[in-house]
Amino acid sequence: MNTMEQTDAHIMSTYGRNPIVIDEGSGAVFRDADGRTWIDFTSGIGVNSLGCGNAAWTEAVCTQVRKLQHTSNLYYHAPQAELAEKLCAMSGYKKLFFGNSGAEANECAIKLARKYSFDKYGQGRNTIITLVNSFHGRTLTTLAATGQEVFHNYFFPFPEGFRYVKANDIDDLHDKVDSSVCAIMLEYVQGEGGVMPLEQAFVDEVRRLCDTYDMLMIADEVQTGIGRTGKLFAGEHYHTRADVTTAAKGLGGGLPIGVCLANEKCADVLTKGTHGSTFGGNPVVCAGAVKVLEALEAPGMLESISEKGRYLRERLGSLKEVAGVSGLGMMLGISLRTKTAADVLNACLEKGLLVLTAKDRVRLLPPLTLTQAELDFGISILCNVLEG
Ligand SMILES: Cc1ncc(COP(=O)(O)O)c(C=O)c1O
Repeated sequence: MNTMEQTDAHIMSTYGRNPIVIDEGSGAVFRDADGRTWIDFTSGIGVNSLGCGNAAWTEAVCTQVRKLQHTSNLYYHAPQAELAEKLCAMSGYKKLFFGNSGAEANECAIKLARKYSFDKYGQGRNTIITLVNSFHGRTLTTLAATGQEVFHNYFFPFPEGFRYVKANDIDDLHDKVDSSVCAIMLEYVQGEGGVMPLEQAFVDEVRRLCDTYDMLMIADEVQTGIGRTGKLFAGEHYHTRADVTTAAKGLGGGLPIGVCLANEKCADVLTKGTHGSTFGGNPVVCAGAVKVLEALEAPGMLESISEKGRYLRERLGSLKEVAGVSGLGMMLGISLRTKTAADVLNACLEKGLLVLTAKDRVRLLPPLTLTQAELDFGISILCNVLEG
């Protein structure tokens, strides 16, 4: 059996896979075993933030795996401590918890918010408001938090305690906040929901309500965080900081990690025995993640992400087929006039470019380190497909 046949025969068919077998990568280029190449405008859904084979990241990961691949969280180790210190210093948060994925980071945030409220106000104040069209993960609780009916199927019963507000609808927000609410959770740019940025006035009102009623504001920055939008966190575009921010995807540069960051108000809510993760904060992953953060700290790096995003937006926005380009930095959604996003994805794949879709849009999440040549090559294929 070849790789596709082995996969289809033995792995549950939960993904709609594209019919290519990726064998290796360098920078923003993937290659199959026959030497066919693709420019990667997906970074593995926002994960390979430094592309493939980044020298500093590869060296750090390989050195650490030779030295020590894992300890439980019953002991201390330097890569975890160094990453935690760096993340707190760069973000301004006080303490964090490491897991292995975005969903786990959000589970942690949900538990933290409920315990914050329980500790201060006792039982019954446990509802979390999330937004219609949001996406927060695939565990039962993060599915329940996800404000899309399509995800609330099959797996009953779902955990209770979530209420959905229409994004940017301040009246709906006012209607849904009551004394049972302990937190409001949002994505500044709804990624899976179609690359839809929130409006400033809505974010401001969420912050104001959270401050007024002592609810925690939780920002799910699993997709928007770690430089993706041209800032360390997308909240900076809104000049706001949530009480709790989650991140994952790009932080590990290709290895699994999730993190839940908490400010002074709630940094000490999760106490000994209330939460845990066997693999969370693994030394190899943490050693790589430190290099991702160092890359983002390099002078001009965040500006270059914004600049590449602007360039993409300009080049694509001028095409007749493109009705609009949404998003921030290098997290972009292209709405189309006549073609379907799925057809564009397939045509790009044929011509040597990998893109994503979100709802009816073509979605781009290129590696943050993409070179100008890779960018131009990818854009030329996309233009060719969109104008063809
Ligand atoms: C905003 C957001 N939150 C959570 C998740 C879930 O992350 P993971 O698949 O790592 O569990 C995703 C994944 O796409 C996401 O985009």
